[in-house]
Amino acid sequence: MGRIMSNELFENEEELSLRPQTLSEYVGQDDLKNNLKVFIKAAKGRNEALDHVLLYGPPGLGKTTLACIIANEMNGNIRTLSGPAIERSGDLAAILTTLEAGDVLFIDEIHRVPKQVEEVLYSAMEDFYIDVVIGKESGAAARTIRLDLPPFTLVGATTRAGDLTAPLRDRFGIVSKLEYYTENQLMDIVSRSSKVFNVVAEKDAVREIAIRSRGTPRIANRLLRRVRDFAQVYNDGHLDLNVTKHALDALKVDGLGLDEVDLRYLRGIIERFKGGPVGLESLASAISEEATTLEDVYEPYLIQIGFVNRTPRGRVATPKAYEHLKINFNGTLFEGEL
Ligand SMILES: Nc1ncnc2c1ncn2[C@@H]1O[C@H](COP(=O)(O)OP(=O)(O)OP(=O)(O)O)[C@@H](O)[C@H]1O
Ligand SMILES: [Mg+2]
Repeated sequence: MGRIMSNELFENEEELSLRPQTLSEYVGQDDLKNNLKVFIKAAKGRNEALDHVLLYGPPGLGKTTLACIIANEMNGNIRTLSGPAIERSGDLAAILTTLEAGDVLFIDEIHRVPKQVEEVLYSAMEDFYIDVVIGKESGAAARTIRLDLPPFTLVGATTRAGDLTAPLRDRFGIVSKLEYYTENQLMDIVSRSSKVFNVVAEKDAVREIAIRSRGTPRIANRLLRRVRDFAQVYNDGHLDLNVTKHALDALKVDGLGLDEVDLRYLRGIIERFKGGPVGLESLASAISEEATTLEDVYEPYLIQIGFVNRTPRGRVATPKAYEHLKINFNGTLFEGEL
């Protein structure tokens, strides 16, 4: 079985029906949502495209969902590209020239767009044209033609805003970080999803799933799916607290929503590096994980809940982390605990 907390994109029809379609259905991220409402209304009033939007933050917090909503609210279509998949500037030009006024071009993992492709984006974003070089292969003298583009909105998503070059970052008029969701917001999302799934979930079961979702809607929906399976097999489809706890324990999601990688990360710092500070690379190789995955997917949440500090000398586990793992500061287990 794949790890339950893994964050890869997982699309099927059910998944799509879980996606809110409008800003008012989109739970949380209130500041961003309220600003977007104003910007969208103003742009529509002027009959212009919305300014380019850069969304950044950890996986599963709703960047792709928001890009689709923006297109929807602007009454445009959305075209989607993944940064690393755009190999040549021609690939980008091919998509750009199919856009219509008011459309959204969504580029996921925009920090991984190759340099020569990025340069095409500059003029496209700023002045709505691209220069295309033709005749390069034919041996004839190559020449450049300018293609005008309709006004469109580029929505870029990234887990690492710091990896964007300054010229690219500066071309986004709206830049926003997505935050982890609160327990109440996740409860709203889980309740809404359980209606889509057509299951009746008790409120304390919904809360339990919310608490164990690492502040992340994608994880909340995934846990709900698995809990629904347990409820169906063991509890006549009835989703109560008991079967929910049983399911989540069986999935090895602990009381705070930490999964096996989170726990290995924390144990790694505490047991192999005496609580830190330890450099990210050393820690990553000690626990056989990719440094970038730890940095983008796992650390943000552990830092958010105050289990890890990032210091100039490396990562440090906090007393809260020791307490959660039931390890004393001198490295021994609390008495009577596993
Ligand atoms: N604000 C929200 N309200 C309700 N559901 C949400 C919200 N944000 C995300 N979701 C749900 O969580 C799922 C994951 O969201 P999404 O795919 O947009 O995340 P993402 O930030 O693009 O992640 P990644 O960085 O991995 O691409 C969506 O399918 C949607 O069902
Ligand atoms: Mg996405």
